[in-house]
Amino acid sequence: MNINVVGSGYVGTTLAACLADLGHDVTAIDIDEDVVAELNAGRPPIHESGLDELVAEHAGENLRATTLYENVAEADATFLAIQTPSREDGSIDVTPLEAAAEMTGEALADAGDHLVIVKSTITPPSIDAIRDAVAEGAGDVTGRIEVATNPEFLREGTAVEDFLAPQKIVFGTTSEWATERLEEIYAPLLADHDAHVVRTDPETATMIKYANNAFLATKISLINDLGNVCKEFGIDAYEVADAIGLDDRIGERFLRSGVGWGGSCFPKDVAAIIAAARESGYDPAVLEAAVEVNDRQPERMLELLDEHVDVEGKRVAVLGLAFKPGTDDTRNSRAIPVIKGLQDRGADVVGYDPVATENMRERFPEIEYADSAAAALEGTLGALVVTDWDEFAALDEEFDAMADPVVVDGRRIIDRHEGITYEGLTW
Ligand code: UDX
Repeated sequence: MNINVVGSGYVGTTLAACLADLGHDVTAIDIDEDVVAELNAGRPPIHESGLDELVAEHAGENLRATTLYENVAEADATFLAIQTPSREDGSIDVTPLEAAAEMTGEALADAGDHLVIVKSTITPPSIDAIRDAVAEGAGDVTGRIEVATNPEFLREGTAVEDFLAPQKIVFGTTSEWATERLEEIYAPLLADHDAHVVRTDPETATMIKYANNAFLATKISLINDLGNVCKEFGIDAYEVADAIGLDDRIGERFLRSGVGWGGSCFPKDVAAIIAAARESGYDPAVLEAAVEVNDRQPERMLELLDEHVDVEGKRVAVLGLAFKPGTDDTRNSRAIPVIKGLQDRGADVVGYDPVATENMRERFPEIEYADSAAAALEGTLGALVVTDWDEFAALDEEFDAMADPVVVDGRRIIDRHEGITYEGLTW
């Protein structure tokens, strides 16, 4: 099929490359000329495992990029994968998405039937604005234009793999025609991969996406809440989690307690669905509590450090700056409130991360950054472990170079406990 993907950010580029890999003819449309040039040269504008190979293989063949909407109507469908930034109150700003929807509509003015598929994460009530924008752009069209939703469930670092081998695919449509077109798009994937296909209306599809992320984030916050209780009683929360995970109604995954969740999805999506619910007149109490527990975890780490040392004027290491291992993404990383908390206490912070240093430097240019965990630990009075990078598990005599080896582990990654003051956050 001939498919457009509007927006070449993280989701759009992954989507475009994977659709090309499924054998479709894909046109990536982006307003940024540099992004378009990079894509046409076979280089993805973002880093994601496996994406370099896919883009290099398909660019110039069945994947091309352009800044122009002029050929949109020639395609069978257009995905909109435009960012929906957060506003101050947590709600999403759909203005950039509306603009792209309107331009897509304009390009469809004299066209035949066309399916516009919203890939961006939007709250159920915002779908109307996107439908209106497409209709506004299209004016009096001759053919049928329908707006469907098809949320993504990709994780950073495994996005290509998640796209090509999903557990579920969700089609939010208002007609059999649109469902069939989505089925056609995904047919090459479903031919050799057994995924659940959920067919529903556009609003429910977007709610599934929010419910999915809100549930997972809340699961972590609940185990963190229980983990904090365990710590008060001197109980190891991981032993408790392993046992409750044996109940298949609970499940063993996403029960790793610690300093909490970050990244580009969980914080943004939980805040957005809370804001949308409040807007409709309902206060989602459990979701609000999930955010509160998550906000508290970094401070609990710092309080554990306070119990052993007064860090004012002292050098303290933060090990791990990325929001999770395997990425240089520091968006909403728990390292941010940890560094702020140390600064509030007057500590001299030295950060270390194998790949995320430059991103954190933009946010905190004033702190020191080390080239290795060993260099970061040298002469420090305490160390806070925020990201579960594998290399931290191998740290051993590096702790001997600390002035006072107090180690507060927020991810249960440190192996050595002998000869140092070791504090686990929930164990
Ligand atoms: C998440 C969802 O998993 C994905 O389906 C959605 O599309 C986008 O959001 P991602 O943000 O890439 O993906 O990371 P994920 O691996 O889910 O981890 C999110 C955060 O939760 C990380 O900060 C991680 O450290 C934390 N986490 C995860 C825990 O604290 N404990 C756990 O048991 C699992």
